[in-house]
Amino acid sequence: MQIQKNYSLKNYNTFHIDAYSKYFSAFHSTEDLQNFFQSKKFKNESILILGGGSNILFTKNFDGVVLKNETTGMETINEDEKHVYVKVAAGEGWHRFVMYCVERNLAGIENLSLIPGYVGAAPMQNIGAYGVEIKDVFHSLEALHILKNKIINFTVNDCEFGYRDSAFKKKYKNQFAILNVTFRLNKIPDYNIAYGAIKEELNKMNVDQLSIQAISDAVINIRTSKLPDPKIIGNAGSFFKNPEINSHQLHQLHELHHLNIPVYKLDEDTFKIYAGWLIEQCGPESGTSWKGYRKGNAGCYDKQALVLVNYGNATGKEIYKLSEEIKISVKEKFGIELEREVNII
Ligand code: FAD
Ligand code: EPU
Repeated sequence: MQIQKNYSLKNYNTFHIDAYSKYFSAFHSTEDLQNFFQSKKFKNESILILGGGSNILFTKNFDGVVLKNETTGMETINEDEKHVYVKVAAGEGWHRFVMYCVERNLAGIENLSLIPGYVGAAPMQNIGAYGVEIKDVFHSLEALHILKNKIINFTVNDCEFGYRDSAFKKKYKNQFAILNVTFRLNKIPDYNIAYGAIKEELNKMNVDQLSIQAISDAVINIRTSKLPDPKIIGNAGSFFKNPEINSHQLHQLHELHHLNIPVYKLDEDTFKIYAGWLIEQCGPESGTSWKGYRKGNAGCYDKQALVLVNYGNATGKEIYKLSEEIKISVKEKFGIELEREVNII
């Protein structure tokens, strides 16, 4: 592996932040990575495993080694009456894998079309969209324990998946490099079109016969219409998570604000309140909205308030500062603490 020094990460994160890493190298196989750790040459340096850089905000230079995953490969490793098991290298593009499944009529991840990033990062936050999360099709993964240089197998229970969460973000944080993920895809589709926007889009497309391909196309259309393309406008998708509130809190919000608050019911007493809506209701000054706000090159996207954007050469610190201002204003107005989804470095 060739190690570069003082390396610009601008082309390696979708916010296009011009941060530098002290050392940078790409790895193309598990052996590359094992040899790197075996050599102990960088044993005192911090390590950052990087995929597509689509869920990361660099607020400073990285004082350590960035290891960029460039492993590839997808193979069917098993099959039974109902399922096909596909093992995918962590460095494969997520959307490329979704298309691989759609083309072969393997169901389960069509709702997750067009999510940027690599397969290896997908379990990190249990990626999700339009009513589906990867935990629904996850079988197992292999990861390298960085300090012990040992490969360990994780089942779905070991990963402790939650909403935009997993054990790799908590108790195993920075301890493992995910090497590959095995998915259990369905031979017989169980279409999930409960998310309102999908039905609307399928109607618009005049689809009368549901198919894996049609759902994937619908999701791609919706996403393209409201999310900024990171190639054009720097962003990392939703900057915050959607908070959960209980029925008492929801009742209080109604009493206080007399607004029609859009929520999603999770169970009798738990509701998901949309962070995009909360952000849209707040602004830098009273009577203004963050949605469409721009200060210098940092902004809040005009079609989706949950997405913070870099219009040019914003620094990570500027984006972070804006996120802090948004957090404070939402807390002041609604008493709700927003939690960042994006990984802050
Ligand atoms: P990176 O940003 O490279 O890394 C993210 C984190 O995972 C970092 O902490 C990194 O160190 C760690 N990591 C990466 N690879 C590995 C590995 N192999 N082993 C160990 N640690 C690793 N997310 C959703 O869930 N749903 C969406 O609908 C969605 N929409 C998005 C839309 C846009 C326009 C954008 C820009 C982002 C969106 N995201 C969404 C967020 C993002 O695409 C996902 O979180 C994705 O899984 C990140 O993958 P990545 O390879 O880019 O990860
Ligand atoms: N809304 C507003 N104003 C806005 C944005 C949203 O009022 O500016 C309200 C509307 O009521 C809208 C609702 O929020 O109906 C939901 O909006 P949307 O369907 O765009 O989804 P989201 O809740 O904002 C979540 C995920 C996305 C995922 C979509 C689709 C989180 C943090 N985000 O966004 O994931 O693609 O649902 O399932 O859960 C990501 O994680 O990076 C990401 C993009």
